[in-house]
Amino acid sequence: MNIIVCRDYEEMSRKAVELVAESLRETPEGLVSFAGGDTPLGTVHTFAEQVNAGAIDISRAHYVSLDEWVGLSDTDEGSCGLFNRVELLGRLEKPFAGVHVINGAAADIEAERQALNDYIAKYGPLTASVLGIGMNGHLGFNEDGIDFESDAHITPLSDVTKRVMCKYFGEKFHPEYGISQGIRQIMAAKRVILIANGAHKAEILSRAVRGEVTNSVPASILQRHPDCYVVADTAAAAGL
Ligand code: F6R
Repeated sequence: MNIIVCRDYEEMSRKAVELVAESLRETPEGLVSFAGGDTPLGTVHTFAEQVNAGAIDISRAHYVSLDEWVGLSDTDEGSCGLFNRVELLGRLEKPFAGVHVINGAAADIEAERQALNDYIAKYGPLTASVLGIGMNGHLGFNEDGIDFESDAHITPLSDVTKRVMCKYFGEKFHPEYGISQGIRQIMAAKRVILIANGAHKAEILSRAVRGEVTNSVPASILQRHPDCYVVADTAAAAGL
């Protein structure tokens, strides 16, 4: 694992984008994925700015979202899809060649899961995957106990995820299940960039990076990835 400690959130976001840009220079027709949530907001904004400025060429690249709450689509507040559309895709003046955003509200959620596998099989493997880490060590919705050989799957959310994630919904929505790219697909990415900021992430990040590789801390599997970068601000990196 390559560990990059950044002064602050802005530097973390810029560094993550540099790493994605380098991957896309090497593989301009590649497939990229960004997590939703609080951590990657600066990263996706910076990425869009650089695309619009002509510094990153995505005209031949494809985009796939990482995960979604089952029950929500990209028009629902708090959804990963809305994050993707508003914070990333909607800001791009020069679009990706193709985009797949998971619809967690699909009537046939099993078909939606299969569609995610199919898209990654067609345009993948991922060239660059930008991930955040959950308070239980999850990646996407690969919750504790996940089978490291999993592809796209629908999974019950852990109690920690449900508790922490009410920050997105308040009392409006109580998610029970998530749909997510699997660990096998994340591990097949040419490059993985795990970003983390804030003191609240220090302990789980240190368990993921310095602890044993175990599916009770799903992010720990990234220790076995051949081109993984952990990009963290000083507060999140305190335990490294
Ligand atoms: C969201 C996702 C989650 C988050 C993680 C950290 O699409 O994949 O795994 O990356 O829960 O969330 P934040 O960044 O909000 O702390």
